[in-house]
Amino acid sequence: MKQQDIQLDSEGRLRHFLTIDGLKRQTLVDILDTAENFSTVGSQNVKKVPLLRGKTIINLFFEPSTRTRTTFELAAKRLSADVLNINISTSSASKGESLLDMLRNFEAMFCDMFVVRHQTSGAAHFIAEHVAPHISVINAGDGSHAHPTQGMLDMFTIRRHKKEFHNLSVAIVGDILHSRVARSQIHALNILGVPDIRVIGPDTLIPKSADNLGVHVYHDIRAGLRDVDVVIMLRLQRERMTGAMLPSEKEYFQCYGLTPDKLALARPDAIVMHPGPINRGVEIASSVADGPQSVILEQVTNGIAIRMAIMSMTLGRSPVSDKEGV
Ligand code: CP
Repeated sequence: MKQQDIQLDSEGRLRHFLTIDGLKRQTLVDILDTAENFSTVGSQNVKKVPLLRGKTIINLFFEPSTRTRTTFELAAKRLSADVLNINISTSSASKGESLLDMLRNFEAMFCDMFVVRHQTSGAAHFIAEHVAPHISVINAGDGSHAHPTQGMLDMFTIRRHKKEFHNLSVAIVGDILHSRVARSQIHALNILGVPDIRVIGPDTLIPKSADNLGVHVYHDIRAGLRDVDVVIMLRLQRERMTGAMLPSEKEYFQCYGLTPDKLALARPDAIVMHPGPINRGVEIASSVADGPQSVILEQVTNGIAIRMAIMSMTLGRSPVSDKEGV
């Protein structure tokens, strides 16, 4: 079954969250609005709402993560769910247990949700196809395919600063080819009606099919950044590169690194985003990463509210339709 089909239940409500591709604009707006409701929980005296009390959520991270794993855990705890972080390297996966056998064992412990990061594209979809009907699966990043909760927290951050999507120019700069984040952002930006989406990078790091993604391709960063409202920088994902795709990091920084003089070509009120982890002096200068236009750490904070929204919606307890506990 296609991911777009499997992630909705028979009434068209989110059951899993595997990809942004194919979702309706209203679903994305519901997620953003729900996250807006949750965004004040972190500054309350008691940082908790009882919405997912009694639910058990298992974080299954087969790849390293700082931001995504931590904010999923915080989001689950702020929704009052019980959350377990499985250390894959010390689990019985290291003794040859298959992924499906591992899942069956967690199902036998009456869990309600798997949050999955995996190095293989399609892993979260595979798991969603095989779990018991009451269990929801959230994709926390699969290979170079998708990172949909990152895409949504980026849309939340853009909406907070720019209010509307219909009049924006957004540039995504760097290693588009290997970036699951870029793919999810491009789907979301198109669905939300952004008219000018630019991808900027060397030919070796732009997918050959970019023209079919609804974006404009630029190889000259100075032309690509001109008058944009949002600049999203991406890290070079060397762990997914095969062979020599780049000159030295020094040359890359000279050509594509975001420095104050290049940022000056964007609109004066442009925001600078980065999903992290950032590599200072490779894709972004420290003076920009830490500068007044950077919203990089806001993105991290917004990740908690977005993940609370998506977890509550997929478990069928969205405060859009059910105000309990908010
Ligand atoms: N943005 C992101 O996915 O960061 P982590 O790899 O630290 O989770």
